Amino acid sequence: MAVELAIIGGTGVYDPNILSNIREETISTVFGETAVKIGEYQGREVAFMNRHGAGHSVPPHLVNYRANIAGLKKLGVKTIIATAAVGSINKEMKPGEFVFCDQFLDFTKRRAQTFFDGGENGVVHVDVTDPYCKDLRQIMSKVADQLELNYHQGGVYVTTEGPRYESPAEIKMLEKLGGDLVGMTSVPEVVLAREAGICYATVCMVTNFGAGISETNLTHEEVLEVMDKNAENLRKLAMGTILALTPARQCWCHTAVEAPMHEMLKG
Ligand code: HPA
Repeated sequence: MAVELAIIGGTGVYDPNILSNIREETISTVFGETAVKIGEYQGREVAFMNRHGAGHSVPPHLVNYRANIAGLKKLGVKTIIATAAVGSINKEMKPGEFVFCDQFLDFTKRRAQTFFDGGENGVVHVDVTDPYCKDLRQIMSKVADQLELNYHQGGVYVTTEGPRYESPAEIKMLEKLGGDLVGMTSVPEVVLAREAGICYATVCMVTNFGAGISETNLTHEEVLEVMDKNAENLRKLAMGTILALTPARQCWCHTAVEAPMHEMLKG
């Protein structure tokens, strides 16, 4: 059975507890090694990847995003549901609520952003008009409706370099630029998924208001606490989305880069 679906668990989502018969695999790629757990959910094989490694040991700026996405591509994954703990810049998007983001702003500084660094691998200028798969976002919002979850369809995810949180002045600037949410991981993950021809969407969980909007200083513990409180909703959303996914894809995520370009990722 091919593993066509993967969940990338971000901060606070470390445990693939909806899966059974779990086995661990290390996948080696031209960009390095990555670890996944593969299990079953209702007759489907699902891969689960911890973005921050075991025990949240890898900070956002050091995640090997290329190995992670190339590894999933090698497994045969066609769809990725990513989770992300985020701060909110938009007062309408409150702690405890979900946002299925539809755009990003990139404020990262030193991350490999592409699989295609020239030479043998060629050069690719990938289209990111709809960076997060429209169809997948649609499915997630239908499931969220059925579950009566508090969610927002669409939002601009600003990726900062981290690992520190932002200053209040930065949050003010990002608000003026049109950002709704702030986190440290969506770029380059979303871009690499597009380069690999994999449908990708992110369930953002708002854990706090951004610095300066929040009345208190920010702590990682606060972020984990809110993630923990909403873990059950996130689990239900993941389960519902897995079941609602169909193999037929109308979106163009998989054709954004010509298929022969993907061969190198499988090497
Ligand atoms: N900023 C950046 N990343 C985050 C935040 C934040 O306020 N909250 C959770 N992840």
